[in-house]
Amino acid sequence: MNFSVKTTSIEQCKSHCVVIGVYANEKSKKANSLALTIKDDAQEFEKSCRVSLATLFDHENFSGQVGQTLVVHQINEHINKAILVGLGEKDKLTAAKYRSSTASYSRVLAKNAVKNADIFLDNIEIESLNQGQQAQYCAEKLTHAYYRFTQCKSHQKKPINPKINFHLEKGVPSTSVKQALATGVAVGKGMNVARELGNLPGNICTPTYLANEAKKLARSHKTLTAKILSEKQMADLGMGSLLSVSAGSKEPAQLIIMEYKGAAKSQRPHVLVGKGITFDTGGISLKPGGGMDEMKFDMCGAASVFGTMNTIVDLAPKINVVAIVAAAENMPSSTATKPGDIVTSMSGKTIEVLNTDAEGRLVLCDALSYAERYKPQSVVDIATLTGACVVALGGHATGLFSNNEQLTQDLLKAGNDTGDRAWQMPLWDDYKKQLKSNFADLANIGGREAGSITAACFLSHFTESYPWAHLDIAGTAWLSGANKGATGRPVPLLTQYLLAKADK
Ligand code: BES
Ligand code: MN
Ligand code: ZN
Repeated sequence: MNFSVKTTSIEQCKSHCVVIGVYANEKSKKANSLALTIKDDAQEFEKSCRVSLATLFDHENFSGQVGQTLVVHQINEHINKAILVGLGEKDKLTAAKYRSSTASYSRVLAKNAVKNADIFLDNIEIESLNQGQQAQYCAEKLTHAYYRFTQCKSHQKKPINPKINFHLEKGVPSTSVKQALATGVAVGKGMNVARELGNLPGNICTPTYLANEAKKLARSHKTLTAKILSEKQMADLGMGSLLSVSAGSKEPAQLIIMEYKGAAKSQRPHVLVGKGITFDTGGISLKPGGGMDEMKFDMCGAASVFGTMNTIVDLAPKINVVAIVAAAENMPSSTATKPGDIVTSMSGKTIEVLNTDAEGRLVLCDALSYAERYKPQSVVDIATLTGACVVALGGHATGLFSNNEQLTQDLLKAGNDTGDRAWQMPLWDDYKKQLKSNFADLANIGGREAGSITAACFLSHFTESYPWAHLDIAGTAWLSGANKGATGRPVPLLTQYLLAKADK
């Protein structure tokens, strides 16, 4: 994705493809009352069109509602293709509507394999989304839209790397917009890294594969180092909980540590911890067969950590970030952990494994204990942890649990600013009773009620020494059905959170 900022007006613009916003009119839904976003020169532009736009809108039933698109070929003698995108009523335009319109035209551009486009969406005023944020979001969405998963197809189409001109009114300072576009591209690329890892099947994307990805990233960036702990090294650290998950698999678990240094050594880092179950069969507490293929996405927390680290090395903010990925495969076998088995975690706490399908918390608790050695400013873990979170919040919001009010507010804000939203769930002591075990310090499940909360409560026993938040992305990390695939969330949220923490 190649962005540049231009100030040419649409009448002077010779283009293969333009994108123009169209407002619906409040009083009359009649097409001839629609207003183009290129308002100042709209009349001139309309005069140059081969057809009357009003008649065309009428014929095509185009009413300018949010996200509606209309492709017009040869709109005038200089423009091959125009993509008109509805923005809804002008005075009712919100950040959410702007985002959904952006997603719409991005999909149309990608679907039409457009290689060069000119975007005329300047002078849009939205209270909660300034020009820079608008530009950043456009760049992110377009980068996201052009992604295709081709690695496992025998006929590989060449990826398209389009050139996009982002048009601003004359006189608007372009430096901050250029910066915002670069951030958007980096975030989009990070999301695509996360999607690619998520979409790869379990027989390719193993814990060892993930470890090699970390080494690869470190080789290509001076600011990043990678260290991998083997099962032997994990055993020496006493990570009996993490190792109880990989016990049934031929694939050895890997603890992957990446350190990004963008600030002075003395500055304590922010830590991201990712759940990297490269396939979750449930283990001896075997999952039902239907839809089990989707459990290849059970490493999407880890994938989002990889995606975010990619974005961070690209943007080089002045901050120190440590990424810890707990990678393992959850399989049933004669060596697998059995329900009722008791394991000892790195913290010394003993855990009764009542259900081997609640494995995410078992790998995360040891990774979270390992994080203590960094004396972190904050620790955020990201995990496809519970089906219960999907029941509670669906696919729109990530579940957010935290032991720290400031961290909660920072993450919620990062989500709202980027449209990659999270919603806070309670982490009250009242729920903790559900994890009582008659035989060990803790049980790994808390019964049918409040499943996503008791999972978070389990983790909270291992995070008492630092500000910590847990993001349950079970509902937001991938789509099912015809559009099955990883989404790349919550890379925008995480990146925004870290950028806001970096020194300016
Ligand atoms: N990876 C799953 C959670 C999951 C399930 C995410 C479905 C998205 C869709 C996790 O390891 C799991 O199996 N959790 C169990 C916990 C239960 C045994 C307490 C669940 O949610 O059913
Ligand atoms: Mn599971
Ligand atoms: Zn799982």
